[in-house]
Amino acid sequence: MFSIFSTHVLPAHVKRYLTDFAEVTEWNKGIPIDSDELARAAAHADGIITPGGTPFGEALIQQLPKLRAISTISVGYDHFDPAAFRRHNIMATHTPEVLDETVADLTFALMLSVARRIAELDKLVRDGRWGEQPGSASFGIDVHHRTLGIVGMGRIGEAVAKRAKHGFGMNVLYHNRTRKPAVEQELGATYVSFEELLEIADFVVLLTPLTPATKGLMDAQAFARMKSSAIFINVSRGATVDEQALYEALSTGAIYGAGLDVFQEEPVPVDHPLLSLRNVVLVPHIGSATAKTREDMAMLAAQNLIAVLEGRARDAKVIP
Ligand code: DGY
Repeated sequence: MFSIFSTHVLPAHVKRYLTDFAEVTEWNKGIPIDSDELARAAAHADGIITPGGTPFGEALIQQLPKLRAISTISVGYDHFDPAAFRRHNIMATHTPEVLDETVADLTFALMLSVARRIAELDKLVRDGRWGEQPGSASFGIDVHHRTLGIVGMGRIGEAVAKRAKHGFGMNVLYHNRTRKPAVEQELGATYVSFEELLEIADFVVLLTPLTPATKGLMDAQAFARMKSSAIFINVSRGATVDEQALYEALSTGAIYGAGLDVFQEEPVPVDHPLLSLRNVVLVPHIGSATAKTREDMAMLAAQNLIAVLEGRARDAKVIP
């Protein structure tokens, strides 16, 4: 039997699946585990399963001599240090594909919420201020038939582009490391430079992974290129954005609004300047958070972990 440590409480059926192969210990204290506790609690584990967010780097890995496999319940893996894993012969896996449609739904939810000012007007109704509704001052802007610019055309980008094209009649632009001829053909999406995309798009949607090349990608210069009527959506990682520059752009009217699922610091501090703005919709990193998708992700992560521990890495979604 293997020994598996989970950094959080797993769905019951996922835990049952794992216990056929392993002794499973869960961190069930209801607060995030810190790295000292993790080093102690997982000292004898062959495998670890963890949701995105808990960082695993060289210093921690050195304290986990038995570890052979680590499985994140997320598609993003910027909390991992793949070079450290390679040095210690640890194989890491993640959960792509099962969340694509769900994250695309959230992307559209943010686009619609910012454009139609849903959060702001919801608050107006709750505050008993419907009667004071200031007419055209509370009007939003259209999503349908406008131009969408997707930065990072992976699988989630494609799912967003499909919704845009087929559901909303939008014109789709994209920028990516490599061109996607199939997407261009099937969805009529047009490849443009990053700068062109910023200048033309009515909605700039960031879906890139966090890498050295995308860290701070949306800086003051990038926001300055956007139209004053444009909306910025971030469903990638907070560190892709200079939040001070975003705050300036939003508070000076240089852009119309923003919808944010991710932040440089999570949870975002309650006194963060972005929280004081009317034209921002914020959600707590819930791109994939529907009950079904989160369960599917947890099960895929568990299957990945067992596949690697059993020497069947070909059956797992291994991080490159
Ligand atoms: C992930 O899984 O990496 C995403 O952040 C989903 O919300």
